[in-house]
Amino acid sequence: MSDAIRLLEERASSAGLSWPLRPWPRTGDVRERLAANPFLMAPMAGVSDRAWRLMARAGGAACAVSEMVSAAGLHYGSEKTWDLVRPDPAEDALAVQLFGSDPHLFEEAAERVAERLGAKLLFLDVNMACPVPKVVRKGEGVALMDDPLRAHRIIAACRRGLDRAGLPVPVTAKIRLGRSPYAPSAADVAHAIALAGAAAVSIHGRYGSQGYAGASDDEAVREVARGSSLPVLASGDVRSAERCVELARCPDLAGVLVARGSYGNPWIFSDALRLLHGERVPVHGVDERLGALELHLRLLGLTGEHVLKGRQIACHYVRGLPGAAASRRRIMAAVTLDDFLEVIETLRCRAASAEDPGQIEAEGSWSL
Ligand SMILES: Cc1cc2nc3c(=O)[nH]c(=O)nc-3n(C[C@H](O)[C@H](O)[C@H](O)COP(=O)(O)O)c2cc1C
Repeated sequence: MSDAIRLLEERASSAGLSWPLRPWPRTGDVRERLAANPFLMAPMAGVSDRAWRLMARAGGAACAVSEMVSAAGLHYGSEKTWDLVRPDPAEDALAVQLFGSDPHLFEEAAERVAERLGAKLLFLDVNMACPVPKVVRKGEGVALMDDPLRAHRIIAACRRGLDRAGLPVPVTAKIRLGRSPYAPSAADVAHAIALAGAAAVSIHGRYGSQGYAGASDDEAVREVARGSSLPVLASGDVRSAERCVELARCPDLAGVLVARGSYGNPWIFSDALRLLHGERVPVHGVDERLGALELHLRLLGLTGEHVLKGRQIACHYVRGLPGAAASRRRIMAAVTLDDFLEVIETLRCRAASAEDPGQIEAEGSWSL
C-alpha cells in the first residue's frame, strides 16, 4: 500500500473528505458521465500536482486534470516532463492535458501517454487556452484559437495516437472565447474540433488577452454551447459551491471546471453535488480546515512534491482563522514540514481558546 493511501485512509474522514475515492464512470459518452458528477478539477500549471489532485478527488471532484504538459517535452524524453503525467498510486484515474502546436508531436505524445498510464487514463485534453507569451509565441495555447484547421488536425492526431495504443479514451479541448475580443473564435474552433471527433469542450469565458483578470462571460460561453454539438464544460469565476450549481443547472452546459475556487477549499466539489441534489451543505469548521491543510502538506512530501509549495497552500487554508495574520508570516518563513505543523498546532490552540466563535469569521472571509 502506498504511503499516500495509508495517510488518506487515516486522515481523510476527519478532514471532511472521502476515501476511497469515488470513481467517475468510465463508460458512456462524456455527457452521460457528467450527469453522474458534473464538477471537475481544472488543469492548473504549477498547482494541480498529485497532492492537489488527490485533495480535489477526496473533496468530491469527478476527476482531475494534470498540469499542462508539453507534447514536445514528452517527445524529447525529458523525465521532468514525464513526471507531470505520472499518477500517484493513490490516484485511480486522471485526465492528462497536452499543449503544443505540431499535430505529429501530439499523435506521438497521445500514444506514449496512453502506453504509460494505461487504464488510469480517463481522457486526453488539448490546451488551446494558455495565454502565457512564451507559449503563444510558438503558436501553442490560445494561439490555436486563431487556427481552427490546426486545432482540428491536433484533435484528429490525438485520436490516432490513442487508437494506435489501443486505448481510445475521449479527446477533449480547453478553449477560450478567442485570442482577443477582436477575434472571437470559440464557435469556429468548437465546430472544427467536433468534426475531428472531440468528445467535449471546456470553455473559459475570457479572451486570451484578458489573462485571468476581468469577469468571465457566462453568456458568451452559453451562446457557443447552444451552437455546438459537443457537451460544454464552463470555466471561469467558479469560486463557490453555489456558483458551481448555478452553472450546472444551465441547460446549455454539461459540466463545470473548478480552478481557483478550490484554493483552500477541496470540499467545494462535494458541497456543490449536495446542493445540486437539494441536500444540506456541512460547515467546514476549524478542525476540518486544519485537518485538510495538514493532510495536503503531508501529501506533498509523500507524492514527491516540494514542501515549499505548502506556503501558498497554507495561506489559503488559514484565511479567516483566529490568528491568521500572524500565522501567515510564520507560514512564509516555513521550510520543513515540522515548521508548518508547528503553525497548525498554534492555530489549533488559538481556535480552541477563542472565546467568541464569531471571531473565526471576523478576521477575513473564507471565500476568495
Ligand atoms: C495558476 C493557474 C494555472 C493554470 N494553468 C492552466 C493549465 O495548465 N491549463 C489550462 O487549460 N488552464 C489553466 N489555467 C486556467 C484554469 O483552468 C481556469 O480555466 C481559469 O483559472 C478560470 O477559472 P477561474 O476563474 O474559476 O479560476 C490555470 C489557471 C491558474 C490560475
